[in-house]
Amino acid sequence: MEVKTIGVVGAGQMGSGIAQVAAQAGYQVVLVDVAEAFLERGLGTIRRSLGKFLEKGRISQEDHDAALARIRTSLDLEALKDTDLVVEAIVEDEGEKRRLFERLGALVKPEAILASNTSSIPITALARYSGRPERFIGMHFFNPVPLMALVEVIRGELTAETTREVVVAVAKRMGKTPLEVQDYPGFVSNRLLMPMINEAIEALREGVATKEAIDGVMRLGMNHPMGPLELADFIGLDTCLAIMEVLHRGFGDDKYRPSPLLRRMVQAGLLGRKTGRGFYTYDEKGNKVG
Ligand SMILES: NC(=O)c1ccc[n+]([C@@H]2O[C@H](COP(=O)([O-])OP(=O)(O)OC[C@H]3O[C@@H](n4cnc5c(N)ncnc54)[C@H](O)[C@@H]3O)[C@@H](O)[C@H]2O)c1
Repeated sequence: MEVKTIGVVGAGQMGSGIAQVAAQAGYQVVLVDVAEAFLERGLGTIRRSLGKFLEKGRISQEDHDAALARIRTSLDLEALKDTDLVVEAIVEDEGEKRRLFERLGALVKPEAILASNTSSIPITALARYSGRPERFIGMHFFNPVPLMALVEVIRGELTAETTREVVVAVAKRMGKTPLEVQDYPGFVSNRLLMPMINEAIEALREGVATKEAIDGVMRLGMNHPMGPLELADFIGLDTCLAIMEVLHRGFGDDKYRPSPLLRRMVQAGLLGRKTGRGFYTYDEKGNKVG
């Protein structure tokens, strides 16, 4: 099947990036969210990102304009009816994703492929909710999507080989490198990354070092571009907590127990960059100010 039109559900940090790279790759894009304000924020992110590429001479004015023109937005899932591939990037909550995939499975044309950008929820379970497990797959992008090369491609138990082939080809056309992993909790990326972040939060809670020192150790000593606490803010503390809970439940091993500090911060609404405050504070443009 040739993919021409891609639907993206959720216009947050990830969905807006996925819509952007899809449009830059020449696909027609339909971006859906639950409120106009979220769509506007998503489009704003896309405009800023494309603007930076233009400024740096990485894309021409023509490509910039054409990419923007390929993105249509809607508040109605019905707008996805005729798309060839839908990538879901809504909140990391199995109940929410279940409701969405039950609707998408019934709504989108039968030959279309449904993909989830979930960081940790089992693809096989989401595939079942969709009612089309052969045409369901995990397509896990990384933040910020326009800059990060990797897409983890996760086959569910019943995913068809043709579905995998189509999605690998789409990821490559988006300029990404797809790497295939099995459907185990956290896949590969978050099984390795999240316990490190969680441990950094525990180190902070225990007073082992200041947040700046913890991040500095990993930046200067391990050459990580960002420290784990900065990275947690960047990813979103709610997403980090949800992933740790999936690892904890999925493996039944207390080594994945979410840090109580992480839990408390999420309860307080301190979700990181997207809410202006997490371990650090941020201005409206998301720049770190303290
Ligand atoms: N943040 C990261 O670094 C990262 C990386 C890889 C994957 N992910 C995954 O991507 C997904 C989205 O994460 P994010 O960081 O973009 O979150 P976000 O909070 O920035 O965005 C989520 C968006 O989805 C919208 N939404 C929620 N429910 C919806 C529904 N039923 N229908 C339509 N839109 C709905 C929200 O309004 C919001 O705009 C999650 O599954 C997350 O685990 C996140």
